[in-house]
Amino acid sequence: MPASPASVLVTGATGFIGQRLVRTLLHKGLNVRVLVRPDKSPDSRMPDACEQVPASLTDVESLTTVVARSSAVIYCAGSVRGRSLADFKTANIEGVRAMLEALEQAGNTAPLLLLSSLAASRPELSDYARSKFEGEQLLQDRTSLNWTILRPPAVYGPGDREMLPILKMARKGLLAHAGPVDQRLSLLHVDDLVDAIVTWLSAPEKCQHQTYAIDDGTAGGYSWSNIGDAVSDKQFRLIPVPRMLLKTIANLNLQLAKIFDYAPMLSPGKVRELVQAEWLCDNSSFTGATGWTPKLNLEQGAKQLFGASEDGSKT
Ligand SMILES: NC(=O)c1ccc[n+]([C@@H]2O[C@H](COP(=O)([O-])OP(=O)(O)OC[C@H]3O[C@@H](n4cnc5c(N)ncnc54)[C@H](OP(=O)(O)O)[C@@H]3O)[C@@H](O)[C@H]2O)c1
Repeated sequence: MPASPASVLVTGATGFIGQRLVRTLLHKGLNVRVLVRPDKSPDSRMPDACEQVPASLTDVESLTTVVARSSAVIYCAGSVRGRSLADFKTANIEGVRAMLEALEQAGNTAPLLLLSSLAASRPELSDYARSKFEGEQLLQDRTSLNWTILRPPAVYGPGDREMLPILKMARKGLLAHAGPVDQRLSLLHVDDLVDAIVTWLSAPEKCQHQTYAIDDGTAGGYSWSNIGDAVSDKQFRLIPVPRMLLKTIANLNLQLAKIFDYAPMLSPGKVRELVQAEWLCDNSSFTGATGWTPKLNLEQGAKQLFGASEDGSKT
């Protein structure tokens, strides 16, 4: 196995996944540099042990200086909320472009991992999916660079703002779902995603120029009943949210977002994502290349998440 990279550059380090990743990399004794927004530097969300580099995601000149000193780059920054493609562009497309240009200008072939999304497999669905797809496309013709793309499905864990509220409600007995009742969804605990990234980091050349959609290893994913069973004591009610109602709320939310200038999570595009019949991954290629296997299915992940109340009380 090659020596561990001396210094890893992480973008999106302040996010749900990024924070968990940085903590793990530091715990493993790696030297970690994180890119933070100049107007938020120093960012108090970052551990003291990592070096903060204040630079815009799209500032090629600053990035070139930073990547010249990096032995690996993990691009974890991303916009997951927005009104239009423009809202997703900076982090999901332009930042990726700038990072690639910086690597090229620095003449550095350090491995680059792009954290994309399973949504990138269906760019026609939403501006988010389109932006993740376009970000990926920028890598495809860069054969001189050593890149890998990971496409996680919905990721859950401590600090997650999307799945965790749904799982908490399910523990209280109510499981609202927007998709069809027989929908099948792959899921991934954030610690297994982080472990996949750390595994990639130990031998990135094995994954060069590949795109992997990875999940928690549950074949065929989860139905909503499976999700309820895994996180609750099997006493929950499935509450289907009518599609028309969801579309109406999403349209209203989009109009309000335009008026009050915020980036909405629930948009018409998000509804199209939510109602797909299935979002499924397959670990075989990534496991074959790296030996990585996930450790937590949803039941185990929920135990870890809600462990403090394993006496039976519901948090
Ligand atoms: N969470 C999931 O279920 C999931 C599933 C599949 C794929 N992904 C992908 O995984 C990545 C991380 O997701 P996450 O859930 O951790 O998202 P998150 O919590 O929203 O974090 C996003 C990160 O990107 C940074 N960022 C966004 N726009 C930026 C900009 N214009 N300039 C500089 N930094 C910017 C944020 O910085 P600030 O904190 O400074 O805003 C933050 O560090 C994203 O690319 C997402 O598409 C996530």
